[in-house]
Amino acid sequence: MISRDTQPQQRALLDNIPDMAWLKDRDCRYLAVNTAYLEILGIPEQAVLGKTPAEIWPPEIAEVYLRTDRRVLKSGRRWRYEETRPDAAGHPRWYETIKSPIRDDKGHIVGTVGISRDISERKAAENELIKSRAQLRELSNYLQSVREEERARISRELHDELGQTLTALKMELGWLRERVPAEPALLRTRLDRLTSIVDQSVIDLQRIAADLRPMILDELGLVSAVQWLTQNFTERSALTIELSFDREDVTYASDVSTAAFRIVQEALTNIVRHSRATLATLAVRHADGALQLEISDNGQGIDLTQSKRKQLGLLGMRERAHMLGGSMEMESVRGQGTRIHVRLPLTADAPVGATAP
Ligand SMILES: Nc1ncnc2c1ncn2[C@@H]1O[C@H](COP(=O)(O)OP(=O)(O)O)[C@@H](O)[C@H]1O
Ligand SMILES: [Mg+2]
Repeated sequence: MISRDTQPQQRALLDNIPDMAWLKDRDCRYLAVNTAYLEILGIPEQAVLGKTPAEIWPPEIAEVYLRTDRRVLKSGRRWRYEETRPDAAGHPRWYETIKSPIRDDKGHIVGTVGISRDISERKAAENELIKSRAQLRELSNYLQSVREEERARISRELHDELGQTLTALKMELGWLRERVPAEPALLRTRLDRLTSIVDQSVIDLQRIAADLRPMILDELGLVSAVQWLTQNFTERSALTIELSFDREDVTYASDVSTAAFRIVQEALTNIVRHSRATLATLAVRHADGALQLEISDNGQGIDLTQSKRKQLGLLGMRERAHMLGGSMEMESVRGQGTRIHVRLPLTADAPVGATAP
């Protein structure tokens, strides 16, 4: 049995602990409590010793203390948990509590010892961090969508406005070409050169507009846009891309198709830029109420020693998926390539449906 009288040394040890500390017997009666404990309770030591939590704490708190005490007594194991309790002014505070069994020299459990630390500040900082992370995420999502809208607008204007102007210019040059005299020949040569400059500008313009935001995505949808994109990649690089869709007759909400398109674009850009792969496969599937993208390559894998860098591209892919309630997983084996799996849920407002006109 442990005695209720604590020695001066034990007393000093207990009181030196800035957190609440106590000893209880097998019946959960207080044998000793330190100064920090009494300060929080606001009652004298005599009013605590020999009592159970039910006699000094409000019922809902006492219930937790008795339950956890009994758990320690029964299991013989240390128990650690976080609890919340109002302070004297009624403001909730958080505590981290650790309870352990006390054994006699025969190994029988004769009571419990506990310590409880006020972690309210840490909790508040954690909550603040969670909140500010969520805000940052919202801001980044907002910037992302503003950027996408802006790109779409510029792309449309380039295509419609400047595109029309260049077409008109070309027609005017054609008209002129018909009418200039054959001599001097230099005049026609110059006109031909002007026409080919205009032709090249039209090609450049179309490329720039499509890079900003492919109109095919808005007009024909994700499947066509991804086909266009992969064709573009295979033309510009030595990479072979195997593309497969389990369904082609689907329309998606614009945020889903934008996210999917941008994720595929970044993944393929990374493969071309970093992987040294010869083959990439892209599978677009529908399962579990979600659009599933699987992009893999047979390249060198992601170098983990380098991956301490910012990785904004990968982060952006993950965020795009997250923004729509989805997820991204990545597996990479050095020398064997990389596999990225993205899940984008198709919600009730963005169901898997038949093609719109
Ligand atoms: N498919 C891949 N194969 C090999 N390495 C990759 C691949 N994708 C990404 N990486 C590595 O991960 C890093 C981070 O990628 P990312 O976040 O897109 O940034 P960035 O492309 O701007 O370098 C890349 O610099 C590269 O080292
Ligand atoms: Mg990248």
